[in-house]
Amino acid sequence: MKVIKVGIIGGGLMGKEAASAFGRWFVLNDFPVTVELKAVCDLNGQVLDWYRNVPTVTLLTTDYKELLASSDIDVVYVALPHNLHKDYYIEVLEAGKDLLAEKPFGIDFDAAEEIRKAAIRLGRFVRCSSEMPFLPGPQRVISEVQSGRLGEIIEVSAGFLHSSDLDRSKPINWKRQNKFCGEIGVMGDLGMHVLHIPLRLGWKPYQVYAQLQKIITERPDGKGGVAFCDTWNNATLSTQTIIDGKQVPMALEMKRIAPGETNTWFIEVMGTEGGVKYSTKDTKTLWTFHINNGEQLWQRTDLGFKGVIFPTITGGIFEPGFADCFMQMLAAYFAEREGALSSKFGCVTPQEAVDSHALFNAALTSQKNNTVEKISYTKLGMYEKV
Ligand SMILES: NC(=O)c1ccc[n+]([C@@H]2O[C@H](COP(=O)([O-])OP(=O)(O)OC[C@H]3O[C@@H](n4cnc5c(N)ncnc54)[C@H](O)[C@@H]3O)[C@@H](O)[C@H]2O)c1
Repeated sequence: MKVIKVGIIGGGLMGKEAASAFGRWFVLNDFPVTVELKAVCDLNGQVLDWYRNVPTVTLLTTDYKELLASSDIDVVYVALPHNLHKDYYIEVLEAGKDLLAEKPFGIDFDAAEEIRKAAIRLGRFVRCSSEMPFLPGPQRVISEVQSGRLGEIIEVSAGFLHSSDLDRSKPINWKRQNKFCGEIGVMGDLGMHVLHIPLRLGWKPYQVYAQLQKIITERPDGKGGVAFCDTWNNATLSTQTIIDGKQVPMALEMKRIAPGETNTWFIEVMGTEGGVKYSTKDTKTLWTFHINNGEQLWQRTDLGFKGVIFPTITGGIFEPGFADCFMQMLAAYFAEREGALSSKFGCVTPQEAVDSHALFNAALTSQKNNTVEKISYTKLGMYEKV
């Protein structure tokens, strides 16, 4: 079978998650290619040590240029702080490799747009990470919407909620500082995950009123002192989109400080004839709303593993989790790269990532001026403020 050789730049939290998925690639049934992790780059030697246990890895380096110079690498997954995205992503493409990028795909709109243009100019296959929609529940939400069973769509809400930042003793890290994470703060961390399905369904917001919050502004610096934490913790975005020619409110939440929520991703779509909602808080449950003989009914369906996009050896009654949706996302990346995705759900495209930045940019202006900001997209999807 054809083997695709992969390198990782940035071996931290997400680098390890990717390595673990590549390491059990054989669980995918009848997949067109196999994938092998060959090389890892990280500045931290202890991080690199972890990868010594991965039998396929032949190169561990602190110099990403060494990894990019290797002819033994076809695809690079880059999981680095946001201030490094633009330069590293573009260098990967210039080295003739395909790229699986991490969100937010550049520290800001301009960086994202430069990366998108470089991918086109260099003719490389580029997608951006966002794994939650690859769970069976979100896929059922999409098929309910596409079935027309909801009637006229009345409203949409979606969000991604964390709460570990409630702990004031949690030390500062790069994700809590604008210079590394970006002015967009929590929107850069969680926003692409929230927008993946709405954008894929064509629900681009055309205006936004943003409420951004800085709640905990100081954290231990890890050296006995205190560090300034200058990122937006929470974002509540009241947007409007157009669905079937009508204005529809779309409420988007991205929160690092949402008490009680541990990586809760959710989406809810309500229409005149029906509704559908899903939250990872209740991973295997899909809720659908119907009207039957005048009675309004919410129906709970227990989903198993059956609805996954790329079948695996896992039994249909078992519950999927984070590692599973991450692997499904990687499978979508490699299937699409092989031209074998057909009508299956694919990873975030560079244009979708740029579009998400267009919204985040407008949200920053909205917060600053306490205004409703309009966002317009031309046919090419280019952002332009009106
Ligand atoms: N898809 C998801 O669910 C998800 C979850 C968390 C983070 N992320 C994204 O993944 C990316 C990385 O986040 P993370 O949580 O893995 O961060 P992390 O801090 O855990 O890992 C980053 C790694 O990069 C290394 N590094 C820093 N600068 C480097 C350089 N110049 N060269 C080589 N290595 C360098 C660090 O030593 C560290 O090990 C970010 O874009 C983040 O937004 C995605």
